[in-house]
Amino acid sequence: MNSEQLSSRLQSVSDFIIQYGPNPIRLADIGTDHAYLPSFLVQQDKIEFAIAGDVVKGPYESAVKEVQSQGLSKQISVRLGDGLEVIHSEDNINTISICGMGGTLIRNIIESGSAHLPKEHLLVLQPNIGEAGLREWLSENQYEIIDETVIIDGRHDYDVMVVEKGTTNIPLSYEEKLFGPANLAKQTDEFYLKWERDLAHRERIYEQIKQADQPNHEKLTELEQAITAIKEVLNRDAN
Ligand SMILES: C[S@@+](CC[C@H](N)C(=O)[O-])C[C@H]1O[C@@H](n2cnc3c(N)ncnc32)[C@H](O)[C@@H]1O
Repeated sequence: MNSEQLSSRLQSVSDFIIQYGPNPIRLADIGTDHAYLPSFLVQQDKIEFAIAGDVVKGPYESAVKEVQSQGLSKQISVRLGDGLEVIHSEDNINTISICGMGGTLIRNIIESGSAHLPKEHLLVLQPNIGEAGLREWLSENQYEIIDETVIIDGRHDYDVMVVEKGTTNIPLSYEEKLFGPANLAKQTDEFYLKWERDLAHRERIYEQIKQADQPNHEKLTELEQAITAIKEVLNRDAN
């Protein structure tokens, strides 16, 4: 991967930014690492300006190197800082991407940096794990998931979600948190593949826990609930 050829995961994030971002798009990519995403979008002439932020010196320096070597320093400001603190009001940021981290970290970044959030903003989020917990938190904080997709890259699968700030909480059902409301509506081939794999994984863990000397019954109940829901979505016999 580089800033001319993104991974399928970041390509999907980029497609969503282009599809849903306001005109002109002014992006903050938080946890940017090599700044591939903002560099790609500027090179494609799809965004006006970007902040490429990272809290760790190594990734920050990689981003500086990438942006300089591609001659993009006018359009991309690379900043070292924690989460959203790299965003200032005069940047007029309207779109924020936070990708390639756990759902809890993404949620913490949004929560702890809320003072830096522009009044109107689009979020494009790509949690590597913990997407159900992230959806729950979003739904309890006036955020609405307006689009989503599942990306399969080899053995890995990734959720990408587009989120808008509203004025009221939008409660999600257990199934909507687990699968994603927009994913449920679309049910793509990638969605089915992700959940076929996930079901096999959960069933393996369920059997392992059941065979333990002192099975964790709370965990077993949790797994049973998820396994039943997944079988239903896959149209499998839930019994
Ligand atoms: C696995 S990389 C993902 C890079 C890129 N966003 C992607 O999706 O390919 C995660 C990056 O997030 C950065 N990061 C973690 N916590 C952060 C925080 N609180 N604020 C800014 N960056 C953070 C890490 O330093 C790392 O460079």
